[in-house]
Amino acid sequence: MHVAIIMDGNGRWAQQRGLPRTAGHMEGARAVHKTVEAAARSGIQTLTLYAFSADNWGRPRSEVTSLMKLFRRYLASETQRCIEQSIRISVIGRRDRLDADLCRAIEESERATATGCGMHLRIAVDYSARHSILLAARMSGATAVGLDDFKSLLNLVNHSSMDSEYVDLLIRTGGEQRLSDFLLWESAYAELYFCDRLWPDFGEADFQQALSEFGCRQRRFGKVTPLPATLEVQA
Ligand code: FPP
Repeated sequence: MHVAIIMDGNGRWAQQRGLPRTAGHMEGARAVHKTVEAAARSGIQTLTLYAFSADNWGRPRSEVTSLMKLFRRYLASETQRCIEQSIRISVIGRRDRLDADLCRAIEESERATATGCGMHLRIAVDYSARHSILLAARMSGATAVGLDDFKSLLNLVNHSSMDSEYVDLLIRTGGEQRLSDFLLWESAYAELYFCDRLWPDFGEADFQQALSEFGCRQRRFGKVTPLPATLEVQA
């Protein structure tokens, strides 16, 4: 099962407490840690977290710098834990606009966790689904590629260290209900789950609640659900 999360609400969480937005992101990083643990415990195969969109470069410079530092710190502090828990890390998105230092830290974490056969943790940094689709389309050229081949191309352009499946459940916190250029191709049949909780307050119980609601959804993938035998006779 592939769960993707748009972690929204750090800024408002901080604002409500009279703190700078960066304090919200720091608390958000703690929620990332808790959620990764919860997802691994729940047997999720792939967890993709939207940490920084290509459009987030437009935020104040101090906020961008502080977010980049947080990713660095997260990789430094969590890589060992991921190795111990067999969690494989990939950072998806563009690399050409990231600091060389951060790129090295990303490559090092990916290399160190590459043999992890438990959960695949994908962190989206400088990510834009539309940009990825464009790149993959250019790469596919004139050759006729099938849906699965195209998905593999997307994983390739995104630096996802292994092919990941389509998204099953897409969660967005913070009360907004939009996709914000996240995994547009991969979420074609994702079940959407919006929750009002601001990301720093999102905890294991909220994650379990999302999984439990997902379990009640009827996924038809554009087909029809067969009627129970008795109804079919009457119909
Ligand atoms: C959106 O909330 C959140 C972000 C743009 C950054 C997400 C970053 C983290 C959760 C922490 C660092 C991540 C990792 C992987 C270590 P917002 O700031 O737009 O909130 P607002 O809508 O309330 O302003």
